[in-house]
Amino acid sequence: MDNISLVVIGQGYVGLPLAREATRAGITVVGLDLSMAVVDGLNSGRSHVDDLSDADVSEMLDAGYKATSDYSAVRSADYVVVCVPTPLSADGNPDLAPVEASMRSIAKNLVRETTVILESTT
Ligand SMILES: NC(=O)c1ccc[n+]([C@@H]2O[C@H](COP(=O)([O-])OP(=O)(O)OC[C@H]3O[C@@H](n4cnc5c(N)ncnc54)[C@H](O)[C@@H]3O)[C@@H](O)[C@H]2O)c1
Repeated sequence: MDNISLVVIGQGYVGLPLAREATRAGITVVGLDLSMAVVDGLNSGRSHVDDLSDADVSEMLDAGYKATSDYSAVRSADYVVVCVPTPLSADGNPDLAPVEASMRSIAKNLVRETTVILESTT
């Protein structure tokens, strides 16, 4: 398949390095995060994750990566990988609210043939 497009949802400790490796592999990557501080920082070439430097983010931007908080990016994706957090809730079970919220937003923008992969711990 030519010009594979990927949306990585959640640009934290899991999602951002995944976005970098996919960008390096020649995939067109959009990093989606609800935090505007994260989105604006990444689009300005700033990393907030220890494993990536600002230079790594600049390299990604040069290769076509961009960050957004807009779930309509899912409409033009071949693949979507969900890397949102699953913190422990008060009763000690995983809090799936971020995963469920993300899936609802994906569903509103999902088109035929798009593959959705859940990377978050469940
Ligand atoms: N950190 C690890 O080493 C590791 C390893 C394996 C699996 N995991 C799992 O991967 C998942 C992500 O972990 P992490 O450490 O990257 O989390 P993180 O907190 O570093 O990053 C999560 C990002 O998701 C964003 N987010 C939250 N809700 C969102 C939503 N509805 N839509 C879009 N963005 C949203 C947050 O703003 C944040 O930037 C968790 O389920 C975790 O258990 C983590």
